[in-house]
Amino acid sequence: MTIDAAGHDLLFREARTHNKWKSDPVSDETLRELYDLLKWGPTSANSSPARFVFVRSKEGKEKLAPALSSGNLEKTMSAPVTVIVAYDPKFYEKLPQLFPHNPDAISWFTSNDSLAATTAFRNGTLQGAYLMIAARAMGLDTGAMSGFDNATVDAAFFSHNGWRSNFLVNLGYGDAEGLFNRSPRLTFDEAAQFA
Ligand SMILES: Cc1cc2nc3c(=O)[nH]c(=O)nc-3n(C[C@H](O)[C@H](O)[C@H](O)COP(=O)(O)O)c2cc1C
Repeated sequence: MTIDAAGHDLLFREARTHNKWKSDPVSDETLRELYDLLKWGPTSANSSPARFVFVRSKEGKEKLAPALSSGNLEKTMSAPVTVIVAYDPKFYEKLPQLFPHNPDAISWFTSNDSLAATTAFRNGTLQGAYLMIAARAMGLDTGAMSGFDNATVDAAFFSHNGWRSNFLVNLGYGDAEGLFNRSPRLTFDEAAQFA
């Protein structure tokens, strides 16, 4: 089975990074559906280290605001939802649940801090990408941002659980008026090789 060219357009060719948002809300049900789609994306040892905070209340946005770079402030305050894509550095504690056929899996990470840190960041980032593509597949628009202070977000949202922020994604229905011009991409020959 494949998805057709219109599906490719929706997910990639026509999908844009949005900076301005229509007022249409995004329901809790839609956000739950989004998580229930993205969670199926693959991660190493099924580790699933990403954690997500769907910030949509006024209080939540006010907690986020001091961390944002000036260029990201207005679009984030006006987005119906801003997702904090975070990860749990102690993701391996859930491996007995997530990788039940190998009870030793947890020890791969408890015995190797560097492997644990790399695995959390690599797979947490992948899951953030799955979130963006799943959102597009559901007809939502996205705007990813790394222009913010991670320590400020972590202090405001994660002092109780030790999660760490990775990047942010504004979610909603984009207003094309706020789009920047589409920037070019590298060609196959610039970015890829056969070996
Ligand atoms: C991880 C990540 C971080 C980004 N950080 C910012 C940001 O802080 N502020 C911003 O305006 N755009 C940010 N962007 C948006 C990119 O500049 C944009 O996706 C890229 O230029 C491609 O634009 P297009 O999707 O419209 O083609 C970020 C994108 C990603 C994936």
